Amino acid sequence: MSDALPFSQAAENNKIPIREVLERHLQGARSILEIGSGTAQHAEYFAAHFSNVFWQATDTPVAVETVRQRIVAADLPNLPPPLALDVNQRPWQLSSYSAVFTANSLHIMCPTSVENFFASVGQHIDGGGKLLVYGPFKYGNEFTTDSNARFDLWLKDRDPLSGIRDFEWVRDLAAAAGFSLLEDNAMPANNQMLVWRK
Ligand SMILES: C[S@@+](CC[C@H](N)C(=O)[O-])C[C@H]1O[C@@H](n2cnc3c(N)ncnc32)[C@H](O)[C@@H]1O
Repeated sequence: MSDALPFSQAAENNKIPIREVLERHLQGARSILEIGSGTAQHAEYFAAHFSNVFWQATDTPVAVETVRQRIVAADLPNLPPPLALDVNQRPWQLSSYSAVFTANSLHIMCPTSVENFFASVGQHIDGGGKLLVYGPFKYGNEFTTDSNARFDLWLKDRDPLSGIRDFEWVRDLAAAAGFSLLEDNAMPANNQMLVWRK
């Protein structure tokens, strides 16, 4: 791996705990759509690990070139070039996948984008497929830790429309879109991995 490639220490730290949850839920999956792939460290690592799964990375039109760098360097047969996807550009010009995965994206998106994400994502998951969302959440309007409260302030300082989302709001958006919540996994570094079935 070249040092020149885009790199996130958080993605490096969380990829193994995330993989352990994915392993339980991707049995039999043929294809994964990842939304907001960022540095593509997850895409590279999970495509290498789940070598029988077609891993389709995406990101916004402005961010997709960053994703492309690591994917081109990885040169894996099941990791095609990334597609441009802004969740607000509906309907999404994508086909349907066995599952959708996104990490650390809902607190970066504005609330309208989060609503658009849930309003569209189900149309791109095969019947019975999973939706897996990793990141920090609030419960009962409370942060789970002081460090998440500080992180929220830091996010809002950069972008007032960003911020750690309420679990209950996300849960209700997913339910309204026809998803059944299967699991809320506590993950390292004050994060969660939410798993739904379509
Ligand atoms: C904090 S980064 C997380 C990147 C990667 N998933 C990870 O965990 O390292 C948030 C990602 O969400 C993407 N994002 C923000 N707004 C988006 C939108 N409207 N549609 C799709 N992706 C979006 C960003 O471009 C970025 O790649």
